[in-house]
Amino acid sequence: MKYDFDEIIPRHNSGCLKYDGYESIYGASDLLPMWVADMDFRTPDVVLNAIRNRLEHPILGYFEHSDGFYESIIGWMAKRHHWEIQKEWIVFSPGIVTGLSALVAAFTSENDRVLVQTPVYHPFFYAVQNQNRTLVENPLMVENGAYEIDFPDLEQKLKAGVKMMIISNPHNPVGRCWTPEELTKIGDLCLKYKTLLVSDEIHADLMMRGSQHAVTANLSPEIAANTITCMSPSKTFNLAGLSTSEIIIPDLTLRKQFVQLMNKKWHLAAGNIFGDVALEAAYTLGEEWLEQLLDYLTNNVHYCKDFLKTKLPKIATYHHEATYLLWVDFSGYGLSHDELSQKLIREAKLAFNDGAIFGAGGKQHFRINLACPKTTITEAMNRLYSIFKS
Ligand SMILES: Cc1ncc(COP(=O)(O)O)c(C=O)c1O
Repeated sequence: MKYDFDEIIPRHNSGCLKYDGYESIYGASDLLPMWVADMDFRTPDVVLNAIRNRLEHPILGYFEHSDGFYESIIGWMAKRHHWEIQKEWIVFSPGIVTGLSALVAAFTSENDRVLVQTPVYHPFFYAVQNQNRTLVENPLMVENGAYEIDFPDLEQKLKAGVKMMIISNPHNPVGRCWTPEELTKIGDLCLKYKTLLVSDEIHADLMMRGSQHAVTANLSPEIAANTITCMSPSKTFNLAGLSTSEIIIPDLTLRKQFVQLMNKKWHLAAGNIFGDVALEAAYTLGEEWLEQLLDYLTNNVHYCKDFLKTKLPKIATYHHEATYLLWVDFSGYGLSHDELSQKLIREAKLAFNDGAIFGAGGKQHFRINLACPKTTITEAMNRLYSIFKS
């Protein structure tokens, strides 16, 4: 079946954050929203139908995560990521951000050092700093238009004592798909310096054509025993409103410690019935839809990069391998970050994510969400052109 990603689905007044919730952030109400990471595409019918079917039963009482729920996760990891996991390794979490905060709480204490690679998905900072842990940064470097890891800096910081390292694999916002070699180096350094590694792989399924995701924990048994993986169907299948994700912990001791906090102390084991139904349907029946989505997203990214390169060469992009979030550098205009931000909002009427929220290296950068029909992107590029062409 051919899916229609060109369809424009009005989202205003649906209670959605992207369209109905930006005014308080951007101070304007007439913007084209290309910010928060969800997609303007319909959630696949296989998922919507599974939810409809569940609604045929008139009682929505307490429920248990079914065998089908676990089997669908196991099947997806094997099929899409060549990662053989066991049912016992899977811990439900009502979202990855909740899971990250819980991981920090479970495995570190006040003032412990937690390392992240900036610029990075900003809730990583909150998970660390809002719990009075010390944030340590290993800034990414740019070489020949691609973000790279500064390994000497990383080793020096791990050596000084870091309890946990949180990586974004693939990386939001810079769009790198870390190679098995890079991930093995990270994993081995974490083992060497006794740093617990948390690998947030929520964007793992969203590879641009030509790139292949590597699961960090799949690189060696030793790395697996020291790595906790965060996965979810929420980005892949546009289900973020269902708050359903999986934390995968092969090591029994680590798992027990996490479950003690997550399930026994905080009672977060349950989730919601529709999230489970949706996850199972997506992971079991969603592959054909995903393949077409990946073609569409890859085209959107190519179109946008080509447009900027030919029409607005002062706006630079980077080597982009994964996620539908394009990281864009406006420093070529010689304007301050605030001036650029105001121009985008007040003149171009575009709501991109402000790069500064992602920490060091984010100034004069913006993140554009390209998970939308091509016509939306064309409109955004035309708006950019009319304001930034000179
Ligand atoms: C790297 C990363 N982790 C986590 C999340 C959010 O996860 P959740 O909605 O499951 O809390 C996002 C959303 O954009 C993300 O980019």
